[in-house]
Amino acid sequence: MPTATQTPGFKDIIVAGAGPAGLLLSLMLSQSGIPVTLLEMSKDLDKNPRATHYAAPAMFELNRAGVGADVRARGFVPAGVSWRKLDGTPIVTLDAGKLADDPDRMACLPLDQLGQLLREHLSKQKNVKLLFDHKVIGIDQDDDKAWVHVQTPEGTKKLGADYVVGCDGANSQIRRSLFGDREFPGRTWDQQIVATNTYYDFKKFGWNDSNFIVHPDHWFMAAKISNDGLWRITYGESSGLTNAELLERQPEKFRKMLPGHPDVTGYQLVNFSPYKIHQRLAKSMRVGRFLLAADAAHLCNPFGGLGLTGGIVDVGGLYDCLRGIYQNLADPSILDTYNDVRRQKYLDIIDVVSSSNIQRLFSLDPERALELDAFFQMVKRAETDPEYSVQLQNGAKSIQHDFTQYYKEGSDKARDEPISSQPVTVN
Ligand SMILES: Cc1cc2nc3c(=O)[nH]c(=O)nc-3n(C[C@H](O)[C@H](O)[C@H](O)COP(=O)(O)OP(=O)(O)OC[C@H]3O[C@@H](n4cnc5c(N)ncnc54)[C@H](O)[C@@H]3O)c2cc1C
Ligand SMILES: *[C@@H]1O[C@H](CO)[C@@H](O)[C@H](O)[C@H]1NC(C)=O
Repeated sequence: MPTATQTPGFKDIIVAGAGPAGLLLSLMLSQSGIPVTLLEMSKDLDKNPRATHYAAPAMFELNRAGVGADVRARGFVPAGVSWRKLDGTPIVTLDAGKLADDPDRMACLPLDQLGQLLREHLSKQKNVKLLFDHKVIGIDQDDDKAWVHVQTPEGTKKLGADYVVGCDGANSQIRRSLFGDREFPGRTWDQQIVATNTYYDFKKFGWNDSNFIVHPDHWFMAAKISNDGLWRITYGESSGLTNAELLERQPEKFRKMLPGHPDVTGYQLVNFSPYKIHQRLAKSMRVGRFLLAADAAHLCNPFGGLGLTGGIVDVGGLYDCLRGIYQNLADPSILDTYNDVRRQKYLDIIDVVSSSNIQRLFSLDPERALELDAFFQMVKRAETDPEYSVQLQNGAKSIQHDFTQYYKEGSDKARDEPISSQPVTVN
């Protein structure tokens, strides 16, 4: 907080979209005393089955916001991940136990429960307004202020703030208004995926908490997502099928894919959601007083859990930038650095790693996977070299970036910094 004699660098922020990114950003900003209005077009938080696993860089930010312990308590910390052949034989296994009690270690909590948790924490903050039924339909800005045009049950309103952050997801209206409806550079995969939540006893077959199956036709992921036996089974399908056709094919897919080859009486399918998958990055994550973060700014396929993880890292970085400006520790030009760094991290790491994560599943001959794939060879080495295993598992931390290094010379960075900006290191 600025001292009484110092005027804050700006007055307030509008965040569009109360998904995980918008909720977390609002929470972190409000914890630093910055007034936030959070606009959500729906009547309630989203309940679709999407993200479940938050990798180390995301846990770092969730810990910083004071919600990490609750994520672990309501969810769980997976023991490890195996890559397998269709018959269940392990190719390689990564043991997360090597990370011991590292608070940044990957945790699992289905997205709707994360949203609920963030909302609970947000409700304790005095300087946040969360407005449901508020849909952004257009934008405006001049040198001094930014505005959003918002559709509400009482009619259209124009709301203004010093900065507006678009956390409004893959179909972001803020991004569309800035660059045009069709302008989201990148590509869509030929393959599509179906994400299901299913009760099935994989442990009976000796499977691990998370499992990726390498097979040209029946590639999939099966990961435990709750302590009561619910698993996320996400599998690949060819494109061009209607949702009805995908649903019709599901029992035969499961019979061929799952260990024990169950028929429909052998499991309980509670959720079925086909998704098209993309690798896309917005032209810029800053245009004047408008900023983009998370899915509004970039998309990747979900294998390896880099989607929201990358988004949460955006949020932590943007929080440090905005807090710096508010507390007169940084110039507004720090927001250009936010754009440069976060876009480059997507291009250099998130796009590349997430693309090989999915390709590894359908493009390799399963019988020769270990000999063909350099990553599998790294995991193999990690099986017998604990130090290397820790290093490999913390590799995702390379998407992090500490923006407080751009604070002005001589500014007292430590002021009001609740938790260190440096990743917790593990030995
Ligand atoms: C099957 C699947 C599995 C996944 N698994 C993982 C995983 O394990 N780990 C991981 O890190 N990521 C994963 N992801 C990706 C992750 O779910 C997304 O990256 C994440 O949900 C993005 O969060 P967000 O807050 O940016 O956007 P969203 O969650 O899409 O939230 C956007 C919010 O904005 C609101 N909104 C939209 N338009 C407007 C408007 N005009 N005005 C006001 N509000 C608006 C929406 O209603 C919504 O509430 C997965 C995705 C899928 C599909
Ligand atoms: C994977 O599963 C096997 C068989 O159940 C078990 O022995 C091993 O400890 C598990 N490893 C991890 C990292 O979960």
